[in-house]
Amino acid sequence: MDIASARSLFRPDPGYLNTATYGLPPEPAWDALQTARAEWRTGQGDWRRWSEATERSRESFAALMGVPPADVSIGAQVSQLLAPIAAALPDGARVVAPEDEFTSNLFPWLVQATRGVKVTTVPARELADAITPDTDLVAFSLVQSATGEVADVDAVLSAAAAGGALTVVDGTQACGWLPIDAGRFDALACGAYKWMLAPRGSAFLVTKASLRSRLTAGQAGWFAGDDPHTSYYGPPLRLASDARALDISPAWFSWIGTAPAVELISQVGVAAIHAHNVSLANRFLAGLGRPTGNSAIVSVDLPDAEERLAAAGIRAAVRGGRVRASFHLYTTEADVDLAVAALLA
Ligand SMILES: Cc1ncc(COP(=O)(O)O)c(C=O)c1O
Repeated sequence: MDIASARSLFRPDPGYLNTATYGLPPEPAWDALQTARAEWRTGQGDWRRWSEATERSRESFAALMGVPPADVSIGAQVSQLLAPIAAALPDGARVVAPEDEFTSNLFPWLVQATRGVKVTTVPARELADAITPDTDLVAFSLVQSATGEVADVDAVLSAAAAGGALTVVDGTQACGWLPIDAGRFDALACGAYKWMLAPRGSAFLVTKASLRSRLTAGQAGWFAGDDPHTSYYGPPLRLASDARALDISPAWFSWIGTAPAVELISQVGVAAIHAHNVSLANRFLAGLGRPTGNSAIVSVDLPDAEERLAAAGIRAAVRGGRVRASFHLYTTEADVDLAVAALLA
């Protein structure tokens, strides 16, 4: 499907430049969600059918990430999915991360301080250089949440490989627009409610089997069973042998909205979305007289930005005087030009 056809499946009011906060649903996701809500209201819903959306989501996400579905676990949000990895670090392990890392990929490591786990943070650009033979794990975002900076993955991975450190990435601000080969990392976590266009409440974790063999599925319930539908009652423990052992039972409505959204991203293709998004981000930057870049998220310092954007009805994030604007497949040149005009007015 081309970008123009995909765009016709969305209903944004003009001036939505805030996908880095939350993405908007395509019509098939919205419709599936409304149908399920109506079924819930009247008691006509079949929860097993609702659950199928989880497996559709897992399969589509796996294909997008270039990994088998057996390497994908499903959960509710990023820090929940990273917690078992943090719990498996040996006492006294050393973790390195960027100093401005979003906390869902920092707190899971920091809370292990009681066991002597030490987290060192450095400026993002110095991350590869900060990895030493003593480093056990490197945690970083593929795209930084506040600035949109795209990580130098090759440099970090080669430093990690040289020192034997595990690599754990947060793809929440990248999956859905940045081409990614998740098999390059020991683990990749992604919250789906931003660039994957899902409702809040669904997230994915991709893990290598070599890492999984070291993890305890501390949150396992019936859904992590080898066959969830024969895992309702009684011992023994009978966990899935693949990444499903790390699943938590699905929040039905989130996943019902997630499956069609991830499928749409697949139909359009990440390469086309990447080209579209970065070109709009660069139109925005050029319009403001700034150097262009390589990200779908940009951050610019502009006086009175909050008031100017609000007056023009533009939705973007404004923090500490900086505007964070983000551009996705439903964004148009008209949205960009509206924002530029408002900011330069
Ligand atoms: C990089 C990144 N990771 C994760 C999240 C959300 O984290 P969680 O899924 O733990 O709520 C955000 C939200 O802004 C984010 O920007």
